[in-house]
Amino acid sequence: MGDRLSGKVALISGAARGQGAAHAERFAEEGASVVLGDVRDELGEGVAKAISDRGLAAVYTHLDVTRTADWQAAVALAEERFGKLDVLVNNAGILGMASVTEETEEHWDKVIAVNQTGVFLGMKAAIPALRRAGGGSIINTSSIWGMVGAEDYISYQASKGAVTLMSKSAALTYAGDGIRVNSVCPGWVLTPMNDEEGPEVAEFLAEATPLKRGAQPGEISHGLVYLASDEASFVTGTELVIDGGFIAQ
Ligand SMILES: NC(=O)c1ccc[n+]([C@@H]2O[C@H](COP(=O)([O-])OP(=O)(O)OC[C@H]3O[C@@H](n4cnc5c(N)ncnc54)[C@H](O)[C@@H]3O)[C@@H](O)[C@H]2O)c1
Repeated sequence: MGDRLSGKVALISGAARGQGAAHAERFAEEGASVVLGDVRDELGEGVAKAISDRGLAAVYTHLDVTRTADWQAAVALAEERFGKLDVLVNNAGILGMASVTEETEEHWDKVIAVNQTGVFLGMKAAIPALRRAGGGSIINTSSIWGMVGAEDYISYQASKGAVTLMSKSAALTYAGDGIRVNSVCPGWVLTPMNDEEGPEVAEFLAEATPLKRGAQPGEISHGLVYLASDEASFVTGTELVIDGGFIAQ
């Protein structure tokens, strides 16, 4: 528990499980009021309830990041329930594991819609509210795969590479509004997403990571607390890589 985000209101997408759920918990523990959005409503409701049962401020709402109307409703909920919006965390994402020749157009479109267009729509809906609040912080979840190449992740890499640069573009555009925009680039994190990759990939990633393990979701959350807080008041347009040393090699 702490007060690093005291008085701040945050909206976090993909908060029903994995890193998003950990971010929501850590943000609330640091004094933020948190709106959790996801498409997994039962799970998300449970995460928000577990946080609010501890006397912390959290509410869940259905948020499909590919839908403008859902974003507008989530931003409106933050302002109605907690009075404003200071922080947007674009965390929702889906994995894509296929090479160029294996990937289907349908799956490519899906990955781009959630991971890339979802980030665009989230920023578009939140920026007017952040302006009304007098400024704020946007944190977009990229990946080490948004910075360096990997085999067989063509749509995922396209989406995450875009997120890294979309964050820089928005950082430059909205600096004058007091809105900081950064991306976070996790390495291998132990979440349900990685279960999809199977034990062979897990073994490869553990071996290839200098710290020889995956991160607990909360280890990524500490970085997001920093970027959301006033401690990062001079930090915009950059990437925070939290990867156990993976891309230092
Ligand atoms: N796990 C890793 O190793 C890793 C590494 C780098 C980056 N990332 C990124 O971190 C973010 C969080 O992933 P995670 O590891 O917690 O995975 P996860 O699968 O556990 O969580 C992702 C969440 O996003 C939600 N989601 C999916 N589609 C959505 C949509 N259309 N609208 C709203 N929510 C939606 C899911 O329901 C889920 O709750 C993602 O952007 C992911 O790409 C993950």
